[in-house]
Amino acid sequence: MFTDEMRACMRKVEETRARRLNDSLAPLEPADKQELLQQFHPDYRQDTQRRLRAGPNEGNRVPVELADVLEGYTRIDPGSICLQNPDYEADVLIIGGGGAGAAAALTAHARGADVLLATKLRLGDANTMMAQGGMQASTKQGDSPAIHFLDILGGGGFTNRRELVRALTMDGPHIVKWLQDLGCMFSRDEDGTLHTIHGGGTSRRRTLFAGDYTGAEIMRTLRDELLNHAIPVVEFSPAVELLLDGEGRCAGAIMQNMETGQTLVARAASTIVATGGFGRLHVSGFPTTNHYGATADGLALAYRAGCTLIFLDSTQYHPTGVAYPEQMVGQLVTEKMRGLGAQLVNAHGEQFVYSLETRDAVSSAIIRECTEREGGFRTETGQAGVWLDSPMIEQLHGSGTIERELPAMYRQYRRFGIDMSEYPILVYPTLHYQNGGIEIDERGESLQVPNLFVAGEAAGGIHGRNRLGGNSLLDTLVFGRRAGTEAAIRSDQYSPGQLHLEHACDYNQQLRERDLDSGISPRLLPDYVS
Ligand code: FUM
Repeated sequence: MFTDEMRACMRKVEETRARRLNDSLAPLEPADKQELLQQFHPDYRQDTQRRLRAGPNEGNRVPVELADVLEGYTRIDPGSICLQNPDYEADVLIIGGGGAGAAAALTAHARGADVLLATKLRLGDANTMMAQGGMQASTKQGDSPAIHFLDILGGGGFTNRRELVRALTMDGPHIVKWLQDLGCMFSRDEDGTLHTIHGGGTSRRRTLFAGDYTGAEIMRTLRDELLNHAIPVVEFSPAVELLLDGEGRCAGAIMQNMETGQTLVARAASTIVATGGFGRLHVSGFPTTNHYGATADGLALAYRAGCTLIFLDSTQYHPTGVAYPEQMVGQLVTEKMRGLGAQLVNAHGEQFVYSLETRDAVSSAIIRECTEREGGFRTETGQAGVWLDSPMIEQLHGSGTIERELPAMYRQYRRFGIDMSEYPILVYPTLHYQNGGIEIDERGESLQVPNLFVAGEAAGGIHGRNRLGGNSLLDTLVFGRRAGTEAAIRSDQYSPGQLHLEHACDYNQQLRERDLDSGISPRLLPDYVS
């Protein structure tokens, strides 16, 4: 299970543990943090991004892999599709079956809208399901939406769209109540109050969780509720193009059955894109924590329809992806471990960064340790990493804490013969989150295309240039509900005019004129999945 070299290195971690238990490094000064990011964060490397050559964001830098998707030709032959007799009609069409899509569907349905949810894979096959560490919301005395707001702004480098952060933090406590009323079971203290811990960059203990399977518990709750209300769901049918009407409003989408390839037309008064992020594009060559479906589909569709994208030159690498064992490389090791006190330690057994610094800085510090400072450990396959001193958690909180608080992670490692309550684990940054996305207002509506709403990771601006852990689950639900509400209201006010796909034809033409040849998009699945 461990090589001799690995055991020797782990002994160094063990030797310094007692001294480190009561001795944590301080957070970075702002100037030092900025220098660290500029030198070591992959966003700042020249080779990871390029300028877009077409579309609303022409000239802006985005990751190379995303640029190829955004400069893709449509998957369909627009001229061959009959738009007059739609296969589906709804007040609100929701594209995406994760937390944001489910929250939007429930909310629009509760407002009396006739809802259709279309999803690429199955309902619940999404990053929400895989979220481990928790969800932030100000639910405790001594905390407030205003303090939460300030933490988020600090984490995002003060670049966030403030009206979106305000919406997020103000709705947070209501979201917790809503989930609990639906039967979501968060972990609780012995006195029954919600158990909360710190996350990176937070000034209050406000991350609540359900063990280390928080997203699965939330998704279970939402999926049950969708089924209870018999909300129609079309599975294995990703959207491949948005439909507009003569007024330039979004009026539904073209879907494609994954199995038969059949093209399906869905007409709707308003449409919500909740398709998640781009982890499976493996930006900068990193492995990812993301679900197989995370291929930036919604960004490609919205971009062709005229939406502006923001902050897509900013990608989140989660500091603690698995670096060993090989079978788990890139999987998430939740930030909750650091919230419970596990420190990051280099190959010499020394701390090199404050463990609850914001993610962009912690990832950069690990990359520095493994490249410039010879503080990384390299496995037999050449994978670099630093140690996350998991046994500290047992020493700080008592024996058995890891198995109780992190049952999913504990079992994952046990499958490969590793007891993380006894031995530190090797970690390295992994691609986790798309900080940017489609530009929206606080109701979740696109600023450029009326009646097109966006919720969850596909939306941009909420987290600025760096999201804090635990704010993604919250944002899927806040903006899912806001988009669901507004889309339902809007569907009472408008009915779609004549449907068309001129935007797709025009974009194809633009690409041809510029001699661009990046293939087709959306990609739907990573190329290693057939
Ligand atoms: O570390 C984690 O559990 C991840 C949480 C998040 O990205 O919000």
